[in-house]
This record gives sequence, structure tokens and C-alpha cells, in this order.
Amino acid sequence: MTDVDTSKLSWDEWDELQNPPPAETDFDRVVERAISRRGFLGGVLAFGSAAAAMGTLGNLMSSTSAEAQEAASRFQFKPLPIATDNTVHVPEGYSWQPLAKWGQPLFSNVPDVDPAKGVSLENSDKVFGENTDGMELFVIGGHQVIAINHEYVNPEINLPHTEKGVPQSADDVKILQNMQGVTVMEVAEGEDGWQIVLDSPFNRRIHHNTPMTLSGPAAGSDLVKTAADPNGTDSLGTFNNCGAGRTPWGTYLTCEENFNGYFGSTDANFALPEDYARYGITAETRYAYEKFDERFDLSKNPNEPRRAGYVVEIDPSNATSTPVKRTALGRIKHENAAVVIARDGRVVVYMGDDERGEFLYKYVSNGIYVPGGDTSKLLDEGTLFVAKFSDDGNGEWLALTPETTGMKMDEICVFTRQAASKVGATTMDRPEWVAINPVAIEAYCALTNNSKRGIKKNAGGDEMPVGGPNPRAENEYGQIVRWYPENDDHADGKFKWDLFCMAGNPDVHKDAYAGSSNINSGNMFNSPDGMMFDTTGLLWIQTDGEDSNEGDFAGQGNNQMLAGDPATGRIERFLTAPKGSEVTGQTWSSDKRTHFVGIQHPDAPFPDGEGKLPRSTVIAIKRDDNAMIG
Ligand code: FEO
Ligand code: CA
Ligand code: CA
Repeated sequence: MTDVDTSKLSWDEWDELQNPPPAETDFDRVVERAISRRGFLGGVLAFGSAAAAMGTLGNLMSSTSAEAQEAASRFQFKPLPIATDNTVHVPEGYSWQPLAKWGQPLFSNVPDVDPAKGVSLENSDKVFGENTDGMELFVIGGHQVIAINHEYVNPEINLPHTEKGVPQSADDVKILQNMQGVTVMEVAEGEDGWQIVLDSPFNRRIHHNTPMTLSGPAAGSDLVKTAADPNGTDSLGTFNNCGAGRTPWGTYLTCEENFNGYFGSTDANFALPEDYARYGITAETRYAYEKFDERFDLSKNPNEPRRAGYVVEIDPSNATSTPVKRTALGRIKHENAAVVIARDGRVVVYMGDDERGEFLYKYVSNGIYVPGGDTSKLLDEGTLFVAKFSDDGNGEWLALTPETTGMKMDEICVFTRQAASKVGATTMDRPEWVAINPVAIEAYCALTNNSKRGIKKNAGGDEMPVGGPNPRAENEYGQIVRWYPENDDHADGKFKWDLFCMAGNPDVHKDAYAGSSNINSGNMFNSPDGMMFDTTGLLWIQTDGEDSNEGDFAGQGNNQMLAGDPATGRIERFLTAPKGSEVTGQTWSSDKRTHFVGIQHPDAPFPDGEGKLPRSTVIAIKRDDNAMIG
């Protein structure tokens, strides 16, 4: 480990520290190649020209004033300046209030968290968990029910009786396990605004020990069998739940991201299986679960980490339903799962794998979705594809099958990264959320950043060359790639692509690091991460980046949420977050008059004010005139 104060790191940052890519390759050669691409990388104007040639951001440069006015009308708010303070800001005419905070009860017989004592073991699976992330709102029999992820915990605040949050007992471990996972909760709007409906029959916590079913090609495989589950079909718990998704049949998809960090070895001599390295599974853990819970001890249960890293389907309408781990969607560090129905009714799921130089995936079901029909196999039987981008603006989806990979189906579903490497997919700049435009046949993925682009390989030894949708070496700002499926069909094997934007800092840089032509001093940001479209087709972009407001990041302030217009490329800042936090996860009320947004890991005493502990919080944003905002 380094001497960095790891308690201040988000889980993504911690994982980056734990898993440095392999040693540098030929630095000079790669930089030379980047320089030779100056036609593409030569700065804002050059980027605009290159994009125009590909039929993309050139639109921005050629807008007529009438078009510009029409575009302006899409943004019903006055854009915000940056902030560097400890609270949330939204535009004039909008207000926000907290909906759910770390440790807040879901049931009336449970007290709110006492920051001095943390949450008791007894109550830890009956309160809103920590570090809110992806979320979706479902309307079930007239009730509004939010399913929402809790990505990780800050052990110091959950175990205040311990030294730096290091668990001292099995009970301590259980508290941490219970404070992560998923909350399902009914919410309602009353005179005092939005509240959790205490004791609602929908309210439920799903955590690191909740029984689940393994389904799809890896279910029953020797790769996932353990002493406790000799059939390899039952699993316990869901881990590092980051982004999310929803199906047209009303279920919630929670996505397991940096699951590797929960496993460790009590035996220093345990030889780590070869496949661990690609996923960053090492003997070192963040929470020391393995000392008190044998399931997380790699030397005793080497298959246990192969039972995590999946998309998990949850039925929010039934608090006693068993979540299902859908192995057909692959085992990666899943960010989110964006679902769309293809022209012929097949189910398409786009998924990013958030690690430097990992890949962008697509699943296509064999069967078609029929409303009211049997959906139980749609996420079990299908084909997983991985994206290959060409520099000329074309792309294709490469199938991961026994024929293309030389691997068996269960191996493809458990060692998905290795399978994708075999077919020559494009190594990406940390693919985070995918968002699908509801009013156009196109999808977007936030490529958050990649400080090692152009100078190192990924964890599987694949090159990370500069080019295509990853056009900048040592990319500290990130970009958003967009693709248009051939034949206007998300199930098609080919697509065209462009960049919706390259984040950057035009005040500090005059080259490609200034960003694309739709980035300016007034809207700049770094590290796009969460992304969702509202029903009107505006793209809401959330950031999880560097908020020092210094050096390369001067003038960018705290993390933020912006709205982007796909038609014009225009981007405007809507929300600024408290210092230290990231903005992640969003959904809308059924009447679209409230936009729910997650504020994760604030450093400051947010939202309760000075003298109080920072609490990860979901906020509810409304227009003061109660007009629709999504
Ligand atoms: Fe949990 Fe990649 O964000
Ligand atoms: Ca994220
Ligand atoms: Ca991130």
C-alpha cells in the first residue's frame, strides 16, 4: 500500500491504487504516435474539424441563430457557476431537500443513526445504507418505489468504536456488510416534501449476505461451486453495487463493480489462481472481512470471488423475492446496465467495465420480450458481444462464443475480460455509465479518464494505444462516446460512432486537453461518470472527478451535474455538489416533477450542517413552480 490516506478515497480511487497496470511499455514510441495524430489532437478547432469530417460536432460550429435559439429553449434553467463549498446548489427557480441519508430508518421501530455510536448490528439491515449510487423508481400498484445501490462504506463512521474502522469482530464485519448492497423503499410526497414511507411492505435491504440465485451459463459450473454451495447455483450477497438499470418488465438491475476488494487471504502462502490478476483480486482487502468471515478468505474459498462481478436482477414489487445473478451478462467490474428493446423484440443490454483499458459490452437475448409474457430466460439465454471501434468512425460488436474465444460458455461468463481480450476488442478509457437516448436510436458511454492511456497496457496485457474513441494520451479529463447502431437497430452487429464531447480545460490548455468545441470556461468539468436520459431526450451527466480546483482542474470546482443536448452538443451546468463528494445515480418521480440525485461520500458536514457527520444522501430537486423537469 501507499502512504495515501485511504479513508478519503472513493472505492474507484482505492481500486485504482490497489491495481496499478503492468510496467510501462515503450513510452517514447506511444507518445510519438500521439503526436503524429495532431490532425485529430491539435486542439479545439482541429478537433471540431475532425469531428465535422465524421459528421459530428461540426454541427455545433454551423448552427444558425434560429437553431441556436431553439437549442437554448431546451435548457429551462440558468446555468450555474462552479462551487467549492460544502453544499448543493441548483439553479434559480429550483430547490432541493434531502430524501434519504446514510443510517436513516426504513422502519418506525428503528432510530436514526447516532453518529457517535454508528448503526447497531440489530438495526444495520433496517436503515438506508451508505454511499448511495445507481437508482431507479418503479410505480407499483400506485406506489412509488425506489431501488437504490449502496456501493461501499466508510468503516470509520460505521464502526466509530474501532481504530480507523478496522473490524475487531464478526459483528463489526456484519455491520459493514449490512450497510452496503441495495435498498428498496417506498417514497411519497406530502406537505413536507418527499419522505421514505416507513414500514411500507416494499421496504427492504439487500446486502452482502442476502440469499441469491445464480443463473445463466455459469450456474452449476465447477468454477462457482463452494463447500457451502456444492451445486454452484446459490450465492450469498451482492457487492460494490455501482450503477443500475431497469427492465421493461419492471425489475431492477444492480451492477457489481469492484468486488475484488472484499476478498483476502489469511494464509500468506496461498498461491493466487492465475485468473485473479485480471480482476485485481489480491491477498489484500479494504475491510478485513476474511479475518472474521471465512467466505471471504481466498485460501479457504478460492471460488467465492467468481460468484461476484455480475448484474443482479431484483423484483422491487416483492420484498421476499430472491435476487438473481445473471451470469450471461458477463463477469466484469460492471458499471451499469442500460436496457433497450431491439426492432424485433430482443432485449439488448449495454454495459461498461470500469477499469483502465477494459471494454464496452452488449448482450442480446435469444428470445423476444412480450409484455406480460415469460421473461425469466431473457437475461440467461443470449449472446455477449464486445465493442471494437475503428479510427474511421465505424465499429462492430464481436461475439464472445466458444468458436470465437476457444473458451467454454461458463468460462466466458466467469472470465469475461479474458474472453474479450481474445477477440481483439478496443481497450477503453474506463467505461462508466451507458445511457440510451429514448428519442433517437443512439447510445452514449462516459469514458471517465485514463491516466495511463498511451503509456501502459491493461491488466490483461492488451495495449492501450491512443486513437479512436480514446484519442488522448494520459487522459485525465475523460470523454463521452456515442454510437449509432446500423439499420437503426440496437441488435445490429455494426455501428457508427463519434465523440459527444471531450472534457478538458480551455483556460489551462490550448491543445486537445482544452476539450472539444462544446466545452468552454463556463461549463467545463472532468471525469464524466453517471449518465441518464430524461424522457425529453436531455442527457444528464454526473461527474466523479478531481475537485481540487487547481492546476489542470483550475476553474472546474466541485463535482457537478450537467445537462447535454444530443442534437446540438450544448452542455450546461445544472448542479454543484459539496466538496469531496461525487454526484452519482438519478431517477425521476412518476409525474416527472422531481429529479432524485445521489450525493456520495461528501467530505463536508452535508446535509445536516456544521458539527455533524457527512452523510451520503439522496436529494429531491423540484422547480419552485412544480413544472415537469424530466
Ligand atoms: Fe462505482 Fe465506476 O463507479
Ligand atoms: Ca461510477
Ligand atoms: Ca467513477
